[in-house]
Amino acid sequence: MCGIVGYIGKRNIKRWLIDGLRELEYRGYDSAGIAVMKEGEIHAYKAVGKLVNLEEKTKGFEPEGPGAGIGHTRWATHGKPTELNAHPHMGEYSYVVHNGIIENYRQIKEELEAEGVAFLSQTDTEVIVHLFEKMTKTHEEPYAAFKATIARLEGAYAVLLMSKKAPQTIFFARKGSPMIIGKNAGGEIFFASSDAPLIGEATEVAYMEEGTVGYASPEKIYAEPDALQFVPLAGDKLTAQKGGYRFFMEKEIYEQPNVIGDTMIGRVLDEGVAFEELGGDFLEGLTRIKICACGTSYHAALTGSYLFERQAKMAVNVEIASEFRYKEPLLTDDTLFVVISQSGETADTLEALRMAKAAGLKTLAICNVDNSSIVRMADATILTRAGIEKGVASTKAFATQVMVLWMLSLFFAQKRGTINAEGARREVEAMDRVPTVLKEALTVHEKCKRLSKRYLHGHGFFFIGRDIFFPLALEGALKLKEISYLHAEGYPAGEMKHGPIALADAELFTVALMPQTLLYDKIKSNVEELSARDSTILAISPLPFDLADDFVLTHAHDHPMLEFFEMMVVEQLLAMEVSIRLGNDVDMPRNLAKSVTVE
Ligand code: AGP
Repeated sequence: MCGIVGYIGKRNIKRWLIDGLRELEYRGYDSAGIAVMKEGEIHAYKAVGKLVNLEEKTKGFEPEGPGAGIGHTRWATHGKPTELNAHPHMGEYSYVVHNGIIENYRQIKEELEAEGVAFLSQTDTEVIVHLFEKMTKTHEEPYAAFKATIARLEGAYAVLLMSKKAPQTIFFARKGSPMIIGKNAGGEIFFASSDAPLIGEATEVAYMEEGTVGYASPEKIYAEPDALQFVPLAGDKLTAQKGGYRFFMEKEIYEQPNVIGDTMIGRVLDEGVAFEELGGDFLEGLTRIKICACGTSYHAALTGSYLFERQAKMAVNVEIASEFRYKEPLLTDDTLFVVISQSGETADTLEALRMAKAAGLKTLAICNVDNSSIVRMADATILTRAGIEKGVASTKAFATQVMVLWMLSLFFAQKRGTINAEGARREVEAMDRVPTVLKEALTVHEKCKRLSKRYLHGHGFFFIGRDIFFPLALEGALKLKEISYLHAEGYPAGEMKHGPIALADAELFTVALMPQTLLYDKIKSNVEELSARDSTILAISPLPFDLADDFVLTHAHDHPMLEFFEMMVVEQLLAMEVSIRLGNDVDMPRNLAKSVTVE
């Protein structure tokens, strides 16, 4: 996903823009650029690759004193990652940065080319700045020209535009892609795609509503159709730093015990669960649940489906959002439509939500980013409270999503009377133990570090499990492949004999999730089938298993969800340690972005 920053003030604008873009690196990018306007001149710099290349290019350019600037990190969608395609894109006297997709850019580009406009890039974005300069010929006021430009655009966009026709002014617009504006008592004005660059800088921020258009200058911030709602921005940069860990992913794995506690606050009570976000009659008329999500969030959704059916006796159907949106789904109004998303900006999930709302279904978002597009669109939202997750490979967000789904299944069971008081109390007792279980799970870190040296090659991994450990197997496989680049697949253990076991040999590594509290004998016999065919087995279990080539001993628990959370940590640590040994960029793995805001 692209990252955008903007600044109006008196500091070294280049420095602020680049520092701001660095706070957005976790979103993934392949080129970057800035434009700084001072004393009526605009200086622009662009570079392919990481920000260090852009810094190299801007050496010697140290603009002090009042001015304005915009910056961008690009994750290529239209056109390859080249300097020409990097943002900002320029006209004769204006520069623009953009996040999203202009769906009618070809039509606008042809129109402008027919009028003699020469395009330098292959991007959709470049049409914005040329269209703006065309509009300035028929609109006296630059802001009127900007509004007329935005009115022509179709698709998703977060736009910042600067022009020599409006010194020290930044025009902004957002539709479908997030944009935040911030300010402080010193009169500085900031823009960013998410609040990370603004932490410690702005004291108040406004999350732009869909369809917002406006401009900012040292004298004024104007927005329409509604005025911006500024709210205090808490937090400091330290909370977003690595805090002494090697990677954000490691820090976020170690944060899980604490953030799970935050997820439960005010929701897990002595006798059961409460969600103030959901009115008492929330389930009225609803008999079934459909959950849509992508990637790791999809794995959380699958886990939740077992819990809802088992506890709340509600039929659940889970769909991958990118499939759902084009399948012409059958939607009935007795269905609660749930979307799960860490970022709240995933394009496929957002579109699925849009379809459900258009069909008149009641919608619920389980999300980690307040004020994100998904949160703002859903009828109700349960925030996972995991805090900023910067590692592209999701860890604490997954843990908190599963925790919310477990709590929600109990909440619905209470509302539907499918669980008695004793049963609810037992569930609450187990929930209360999760932070401790997650802390204890970290004690196997050293073991995972040692084991990782043996899993750096081979012709692939199977992760296998049954029931809720099947989606956990999928998640373990995704964690490993997305940061180690080794091939891994998650499978229901019972499926091995229907084909996959043909791959079994000493070079095929099988990670077997063998919980004591759920179908142990079944999973044990599946693993024995693989071991008999010489597959190399890494067993994760509280029960010793002598056929394992490698073994991670977990703690004995009396609830499957406690075993689930402990084995989840083992998978996360193993994947991270393999990736570190392979010398990969754990936090920003190749080809991936933290939030996929395009199809
Ligand atoms: C998870 O490790 C991946 N980074 C990816 O699968 C992610 O879960 C997926 O893109 C969905 O993102 P979201 O939760 O922000 O919607």
